[in-house]
Amino acid sequence: MSYYKVDNLEQYFKHYNKSIREPRKFWGKIAEENFTWYQPWDKVVEFDMTEADVQWFAGAKLNITKNCIDRHLNKRGEKTAIIFEPNNPDEEALHITYNELHQRVCKMANVLREQGVKKGDRVCIYLPMIPELAVAILACARIGAIHSVVFAGFSSKALETRINDSESKMVITSDGGFRGNKTIELKEIVDEALEKSPTVSTVLVVKRTNTAVNMKEGRDIWLQPLLEEASDNSVAEIMDAEDPLFILYTSGSTGSPKGMVHTTAGYMVFTAYTFKNVFSYEENDVHWCTADIGWITGHSYILYGPLLNGATTVIFEGVPSYPDHSRFWQVIEKHKVSQFYTAPTAIRALAKEKIEYVQKYHLESLKVIGSVGEPINEEAWHWFNDHVGQKKCPVVDTWWQTETGGIMISPLAFITPTKPTYATFPLPGIQAVLMDDKRNEIEGNQVVGSLCIKFPWPGMARTIWNDHQRYKDTYFSQYPGKFFTGDGALRDEVGYYRITGRVDDVIIVSGHNLGTAPIEDAINEHPAVAESAVVGFPHDVKGKALYGYVILKESGEIRNKENLFIEINQHITDHVGPIAKLDKIQFVSGLPKTRSGKIMRRILRKIAEGNFTDYGDMSTLLNPEIIEEIQNEKK
Ligand code: WTA
Repeated sequence: MSYYKVDNLEQYFKHYNKSIREPRKFWGKIAEENFTWYQPWDKVVEFDMTEADVQWFAGAKLNITKNCIDRHLNKRGEKTAIIFEPNNPDEEALHITYNELHQRVCKMANVLREQGVKKGDRVCIYLPMIPELAVAILACARIGAIHSVVFAGFSSKALETRINDSESKMVITSDGGFRGNKTIELKEIVDEALEKSPTVSTVLVVKRTNTAVNMKEGRDIWLQPLLEEASDNSVAEIMDAEDPLFILYTSGSTGSPKGMVHTTAGYMVFTAYTFKNVFSYEENDVHWCTADIGWITGHSYILYGPLLNGATTVIFEGVPSYPDHSRFWQVIEKHKVSQFYTAPTAIRALAKEKIEYVQKYHLESLKVIGSVGEPINEEAWHWFNDHVGQKKCPVVDTWWQTETGGIMISPLAFITPTKPTYATFPLPGIQAVLMDDKRNEIEGNQVVGSLCIKFPWPGMARTIWNDHQRYKDTYFSQYPGKFFTGDGALRDEVGYYRITGRVDDVIIVSGHNLGTAPIEDAINEHPAVAESAVVGFPHDVKGKALYGYVILKESGEIRNKENLFIEINQHITDHVGPIAKLDKIQFVSGLPKTRSGKIMRRILRKIAEGNFTDYGDMSTLLNPEIIEEIQNEKK
């Protein structure tokens, strides 16, 4: 019996039970039957959840690109691996076959080796959504270099922090990137970041926009001529199962971004398995995930998951609103997309536009539609189901995180009955539990609590780059022996989960995780600002938008609040990126704080929402008088 694909609901329960009772047999069989290895493992899993020490398939040897590319060449060499759909619909789409992908990745791998990149070195990739991004990532994996992709919407400061934290040796970027009717000058941002990034000795530059750029002698090299010279054969590095595959930064509730480290074998097995089952992938389906590869969703479900299954995956350079709001639907029709995987914020934005935009196109190729990144509200769920899925496609509301590597709780398409706003059942292998305030596991159904996972799964992050203690403290200390997700959830009468949102200070704006700390740091850098606190408030397109409470240094008249607002947002754009700009700002004379000096964000959140009641326990509040002032002056 194979465990790789669940075929019906009864089998889901069978596989689920097997995966709990005998996780080693379950995952061992999946790993053995569906991948190629140079050498098998000694043990399927070994772990100590108190020390946050987890190993999957230890002792095994493999290369993930052999599994993503080489092993498909016999059967699927001429099949399209990647469809590249450019920003401008008049530019021709590119179909890259598995054979061509193999050549491109090998050439790139050889370029990296020639430039002195070795196994274990970190390579920072700061590229727009173009084929070179996929090729660069896979080339790193081929030679055992650890890729650290930074979303190309991040500012130079954010890039600099990530380059320095990972001590990247090389940056791969482009002259610029196209997004809608804008051109983003990526190379310039890299140049700025590198002023304070001493570890980088080489920058490879892809030509995309033909923007004039500065090329620093001895450091910057155009990539294309190097690729032309390079051989298209490259031996894959033999990697240990637990060798790091990549670092990907995610925001924390406090402090600097966390470099989540994913390792090779477990991540491979988990992304392949979840892709196959959640989307019910079949040969010749065309999969389109609209995320940017700079986020975990793109890593796992544009690249690794689909390629591991020999699928055709779409890389879309553009935005949903360019040249008009029918762009997504036009791409689905054009490439006969089978699975369409997007975010609630995009759904809400498109649902606001004329319905003719959707109706103009044939969406019959669609089989499964999916959502990820934040809770999907009921209205958006129905709009997506009715107008995009045309009530024929299961909506998979997939809950997971950068930390989890792949999808954890989600309907399996055509198998799990869906329910609007519910992520439904945990996937086989995922032991989800809800915890109460006293750190006890809550039994039974129709309950709410903090969502934890009580047994390791292959795709989980293994550590935070260079800071294992922080990994332990953040995820394994609140509920000893369990992985704490930071999310709250309820479990309904049949055991379906509904994720209710973050219980910490992470705010999800348009599907992007933003920690409050770096935004507040950016605001506080403005010379007129003494202190600030940022909270989220409901926004009908973004899900959450940012509301900043700001204390200014000099008391008395603020001469020009409008200018100050613009300047503060500019600081945020420079330090974090434009996605973190405030929608609203309120200048206040103080912030509600606990006796130990912690800002009571819970109260500030309520005020930002316009809800002046239910502040909860205020017994530790040091300065209750400030609340009234803030309420009265709320915008
Ligand atoms: C939220 C994205 C509700 C959640 C893959 C989680 C969701 C955070 C869902 C991780 C969903 C993601 N329903 N909430 N279907 N998917 N989230 O690391 O709060 O960018 O903790 O990973 O997004 O965001 P991240």
